[in-house]
Amino acid sequence: MIGNPVLILVLGLFALIKESECQLGVVYSPFVTANDNPESTKSYTLHDVKVMLNLIENDNFHHVSTYSVGAPDEPFKAGSTRNDCTSVVHTSIAAAEINKDKKQRVLSVYQGLDIASSSTVVKLNSEIEVGFEIAQAANRIYKGTVPALVLNAGNGFSRLFPMLGSIRNISERAQATQLQLGVRLRDCEAVAYILKTNKQNKFVLAQVEIFDFVICVKMPTLANYSAGPGAFSEYLKKGFLELENAVKETEIKTKVMLETGWPSGMNSSNPYETVSPKILWEMMGQWANKEKRLVFINEAFDSPSASSSNFTENPFPTHYGLWKHKDTDMDYSQTSYVRKGAKLQTHNTLANEDTGSNKPRNGAIAGRQVCGWFNSAVMVLAIVIADYTLSQ
Ligand SMILES: *[C@@H]1O[C@H](CO)[C@@H](O)[C@H](O)[C@H]1NC(C)=O
Ligand SMILES: *[C@@H]1O[C@H](CO)[C@@H](O)[C@H](O)[C@H]1NC(C)=O
Ligand SMILES: *[C@@H]1O[C@H](CO)[C@@H](O)[C@H](O)[C@H]1NC(C)=O
Ligand SMILES: *[C@@H]1O[C@H](CO)[C@@H](O)[C@H](O)[C@H]1NC(C)=O
Repeated sequence: MIGNPVLILVLGLFALIKESECQLGVVYSPFVTANDNPESTKSYTLHDVKVMLNLIENDNFHHVSTYSVGAPDEPFKAGSTRNDCTSVVHTSIAAAEINKDKKQRVLSVYQGLDIASSSTVVKLNSEIEVGFEIAQAANRIYKGTVPALVLNAGNGFSRLFPMLGSIRNISERAQATQLQLGVRLRDCEAVAYILKTNKQNKFVLAQVEIFDFVICVKMPTLANYSAGPGAFSEYLKKGFLELENAVKETEIKTKVMLETGWPSGMNSSNPYETVSPKILWEMMGQWANKEKRLVFINEAFDSPSASSSNFTENPFPTHYGLWKHKDTDMDYSQTSYVRKGAKLQTHNTLANEDTGSNKPRNGAIAGRQVCGWFNSAVMVLAIVIADYTLSQ
């Protein structure tokens, strides 16, 4: 029999473990050819998405985030609107099926909901409803596949203010379905500034506190690109800590996560093009695993149809992928993708080195979310239980 204090300790540790999602993840979108349009392309099947997610998982990434479910501008109908979504809608179900096949949660999906570019209320509503439906369906296939929904708000932190009522509703539904709720923002400096200057403003605090986490997006500008990956990674960490400290100075428990990237593959005769991103990503992977942060690399696959309105701000929008599609007509098999550089050392701890053989994975169970302190937490728990048992 385990007494109450021990039970409480066990529950406490599980709560901590649940929060220890600290790794290098990757942003995923299936639109890998020049003819794709993320607003309308529906041609990638669930199978095609699984092929891509398997490449991601085989390279030792276990957290994937998306920007949207690709909902249409149509009134939501349970069970059927999802069939009218663009192909990104398959991500969560594909990950759940992979987890089920492998009998282990090798992939989790931070399911994005695009609220920044949902042009109508009908579309926004469909995006949210399909998001809930897909997340729950995926978690029924394999528990824990979708830990969170993420409102993708672009540059719009202040634009969220009038939406607090509906976000509160979304947050309550998320809680009721064991999902966390996050927000993805490009203007995290604004959040840090607003928090610093409004420490006592309950309305402002409520607007941040409603989210379990904020994903800060910081992509390299032209100036950052020429300064190199080392300087950029320092700049990233500094900005991250600024927001994190601003949050810590309040009572708010909201966590901060990071999304960043580095373009590569513009010039195949220049080997540094693939060396620099590897340096940045590996530095961020090391930091993520050591400091227990979740960092998403933008992005898994080159999006040839991406565009940028400001070259100085976002010079190479189509070149952020770790992989690219060879653009061979209608072939979406595993061999139609190439990794643009050498395989990364992600520093992620769900060991999965061998992709070719059927050898069992190393550390399959212990490895799911191993962060430094996770091991020590388990050890403390073991000692407490042993101690308790011996004293009976
Ligand atoms: C929140 O949900 C309640 C109950 O479902 C609803 O009556 C209310 O209109 C919603 N508020 C907003 C702002 O969406
Ligand atoms: C990165 O770019 C931003 C915006 O242009 C600039 O403020 C910052 O100093 C740059 N950092 C580095 C290390 O280049
Ligand atoms: C590609 O890189 C090579 C080697 O650094 C350089 O000589 C060449 O000018 C580059 N080409 C373009 C189009 O940037
Ligand atoms: C592009 O972005 C830079 C850096 O943020 C800004 O200084 C510049 O005014 C922008 N240019 C345009 C045309 O918006």
